[in-house]
Amino acid sequence: MKLHTPRTRALGMHLILVLVTGLLASRLLIANQAPSSPAPTPAASAETAIAATATPWGGDYFPNTLLTDQDGKQVRFFDDLIKGKVVVINFIFTSCSDSCPLETARLRQVQKLLGDRVGKDIFFYSISIDPLSDTPAVLKAYSQRFQVGPGWQFLTGEFADVTELRQKLGLFIEGVDNGRSKDHNLSLIVGNQETGRWMKASPFENPWILADQLANTLHNWKQPSIGESYANAPEIRPPSNGEELFRTRCASCHSLGPMDGQGIGMRSIGPDLIGVTRQRDPAWLSRWIREPDRMLAEKDPIAMELFERFDKIPMPNLRMDDKSAQSIIEFLQAETDRQHPPVTPLAAGNEEPEHHHAIAAPDSAQGQTRVQ
Ligand code: HEC
Repeated sequence: MKLHTPRTRALGMHLILVLVTGLLASRLLIANQAPSSPAPTPAASAETAIAATATPWGGDYFPNTLLTDQDGKQVRFFDDLIKGKVVVINFIFTSCSDSCPLETARLRQVQKLLGDRVGKDIFFYSISIDPLSDTPAVLKAYSQRFQVGPGWQFLTGEFADVTELRQKLGLFIEGVDNGRSKDHNLSLIVGNQETGRWMKASPFENPWILADQLANTLHNWKQPSIGESYANAPEIRPPSNGEELFRTRCASCHSLGPMDGQGIGMRSIGPDLIGVTRQRDPAWLSRWIREPDRMLAEKDPIAMELFERFDKIPMPNLRMDDKSAQSIIEFLQAETDRQHPPVTPLAAGNEEPEHHHAIAAPDSAQGQTRVQ
């Protein structure tokens, strides 16, 4: 299901484009057939008209806002950041404790999949909506904590200018975004300025699909496809509710066993979660999944120890309710049992030796995920 949504959406937009172009062409035809139609040669007028509609979102649509990146370099939004480029843009603030870290973590996976094309023909921009707190130095520290690679700029600017950018990109929701809280809608957009094709994207989306949109769809399949197509992504079985939640809300930061990491092969932001249901008290686990921010604020000892160990990136509060937390825990338990079948005392005697140490103590599993 999920697999097809962006494609279908892209196809939809494509159809609209084709329709518009078709309509335009037929209008021009009619205009040119009219005997009274004045001077410009048909070819020239058709060309300019089509060129103009091909990029309705050009320099006169997008502001050329002055922004500063994490290294203190000043750039112009239109001229330097998006003109003629395929880009990913999202709006964040570094003190955000819910959706932004998830978006950053997801984009980091997408960046890894795209490899050295990032910074060459695909550009990543995270723009702060909290410019007062998010100075270039703060943004730099944030990008380092998440270990983002080159070709991804973190930017800040005047509050009013950034708000205007969000409006122009269709990522500003009246009522949600101008309320007093810093809550903002998930705001990720991918686009190709030259072709004028822009699509909202969800950070819950499979990273392989996001990478495919950027590498292939938005480049109109002109470039050789990235070596790894999302056909190589782990097979998607009809997931349980718990698995679905895990894949969309948690897998940007957590792997499940050394073979996981969604096949991307990079160090995760948070601990590997195989075995966690065996190690932690169920009530602790359930509460942690629902309100990690409060447990960190209360200085829960386990939470504090993990927080220190994982580069002081706080696990976000993803507003999971009891039921969702429970279904995720059930999935984590099932996945742990699948990878490391429980050894009953009776059966233990007949087990082959490797099964004994195969049960992941989360601590050793975490140790493994720290290695790239
Ligand atoms: C933005 C990254 C991020 C996302 C998204 C995220 N986590 Fe975490 N998680 C962390 C970090 C980092 C830690 C380590 C503790 C800390 O630093 O706060 C952690 C710790 C944990 C732990 C404790 C592990 C242990 O050894 O006890 C569990 C369980 C957990 N996360 C489950 C989840 C679940 C379930 C989801 C999805 C609903 C999720 N996390 C989403 C980053 C994330």
